[in-house]
Amino acid sequence: MTTTTAQEAFLRAFHAEHPAVTTQAFGRGLSPDGRSSYEILCDRVAGSRRVLDLGCGDGLLLELLAGGEGRQLAGIDLSAHSMALARRRPALRGAQLEEGRAQELPFADDGFDACVSHMALMLMSEVEQVAAEVARVLAPGGVLACVVGGGAVGGEAYDRFLGLLRRTIEEMPASRRIPALGDRRTRSREGLDEVLGPAGFAPVEWETVPIDLSGPAQDVWAAVSTLYDLGPLDGANVERLREAFFSEVRDMTTPEGLVPCGFKIHVATTRLRERAGGR
Ligand SMILES: C[S@@+](CC[C@H](N)C(=O)[O-])C[C@H]1O[C@@H](n2cnc3c(N)ncnc32)[C@H](O)[C@@H]1O
Repeated sequence: MTTTTAQEAFLRAFHAEHPAVTTQAFGRGLSPDGRSSYEILCDRVAGSRRVLDLGCGDGLLLELLAGGEGRQLAGIDLSAHSMALARRRPALRGAQLEEGRAQELPFADDGFDACVSHMALMLMSEVEQVAAEVARVLAPGGVLACVVGGGAVGGEAYDRFLGLLRRTIEEMPASRRIPALGDRRTRSREGLDEVLGPAGFAPVEWETVPIDLSGPAQDVWAAVSTLYDLGPLDGANVERLREAFFSEVRDMTTPEGLVPCGFKIHVATTRLRERAGGR
C-alpha cells in the first residue's frame, strides 16, 4: 500500500465511525469577534457565486454558504459517510456533492469563483496535485480560502490534553499509530506559498486567530477527544485518557465550572492570478 493510499484508507475508516466529528468539535468554537471558524471562511468568499468546498465533511460550511443569494455550491470529500450527512441537509438539495479525491476533481475547468477548505487541506497528500486541480477548476482571479489548524493556545486544557495524548501514544507499539497525515507545508505561510505559487496563486494573506472552546469539562473533552490520534486507542485506553484529562483540568476549572480551552487556526486567503493570453 502506498503512503497516500494508507492515509486515505485511514481517513475513510475514521470518518465511517465519526462522520460529523469536526463540526461537533469545532462548530461551537468562537473567535474573539464572535464568529466560528466556519463563519470566518464564509466571510472570505462573501462576493463569490460559484463556490467549491474541498474536504467538505458533513456539509456545515456549505450549509452556511447556502445562505448567500443565488449561490451555486459544490463539495467533495473522501468519506462516503460524511457525504451522506451532507446530502441530508435540506439547504444543500441543489448542491453538487461528490465523493472523491481533491487530487482528481470531477469538475470542469474554470467552473468556480471560489474554493474554501476547512481543516482539510492540511490532511491531504500529493498537495501539489491538489493545488493544480484547484487552479484548474477556479476561474482566473478566483479566491482560495483555507482554515488550517495552528495548535494549542498554550497553558489551557487543549495543551494539557496534547501532553497526555503524547504520553499515551508513546506507550503504544509504533505499528498501531496512525499514519502521518498531510503535508507540513500547508501549516505555514511560507510552506503554503511554496505549494500554491507554482500552481498560479498569488502569495497568501495569512491570519492566525484564537478559537475559544471553553466550557464544562465534559464539553471540552468531547471536543479535544475527536483528534485522529485517538482512532487506534481501545476503549480502556480512551477511558484512562479521559480520567487523566478530567483530573488534569480540575485545578484550572473556574468557580462557574468552566474549563478554559483554546486552539489556534490559520486562515490563508489567496487568488488565482489572471493568466496572460488565457488558459
Ligand atoms: C477534519 S475533517 C474536516 C471536514 C469539514 N471540512 C469540516 O471542517 O467540518 C477533514 C476532511 O477532509 C477530508 N479529506 C482528507 N483528504 C482528502 C482528499 N484528498 N480529498 C477529499 N477529501 C479529503 C476527510 O475525509 C475529512 O472529511
